[in-house]
Amino acid sequence: MYDFRPADGTPKPDLYRDLLAAADALTADEADGVANMANIAALMWEFLPDVNWTGFYRTDPNSPDGELVLGPFAGRPACIRIPKGKGVCGAAAESAETQLVPDVHAFPGHIACDSETASELVVPVMRDDKVIAVIDLDSPSRARFDEQDRDGIEALAQMLASRI
Ligand code: SME
Repeated sequence: MYDFRPADGTPKPDLYRDLLAAADALTADEADGVANMANIAALMWEFLPDVNWTGFYRTDPNSPDGELVLGPFAGRPACIRIPKGKGVCGAAAESAETQLVPDVHAFPGHIACDSETASELVVPVMRDDKVIAVIDLDSPSRARFDEQDRDGIEALAQMLASRI
């Protein structure tokens, strides 16, 4: 068993530096994308305070409309399929841009998988100019995520592009 849990109160730049190093160590030599997504979902859950869901939705390769389908995650069971353009994840997939949402209740079309979720950060994972997956982080606190979280998770998404 690996123990990656950082000390309470670790500053975000240090937290993301260590998260990226741990993610690199866990995924660099493993070719199976599901195994890598599973470990990264668990790693984000361990590293990031004040979150209630950390995980992946993948672009379903069998969906003609680019529907998202649930991937490996930590947290409560979640919505399985999300149409492109719907909710925060669907908006990230459609626009290929990070969605930093301080108040999900103010986000048009938000999909409430868990009524406790108050804020979200969703980052697309790009390969060959296509969104192959999104990383979804949810929190029960409003405005939990900021630019430092966005930068950290975008760096993680870039690292994972060829590993999931
Ligand atoms: N709330 C998300 C759906 C996924 S769950 O949060 C795990 C959304 O609106 O995209």
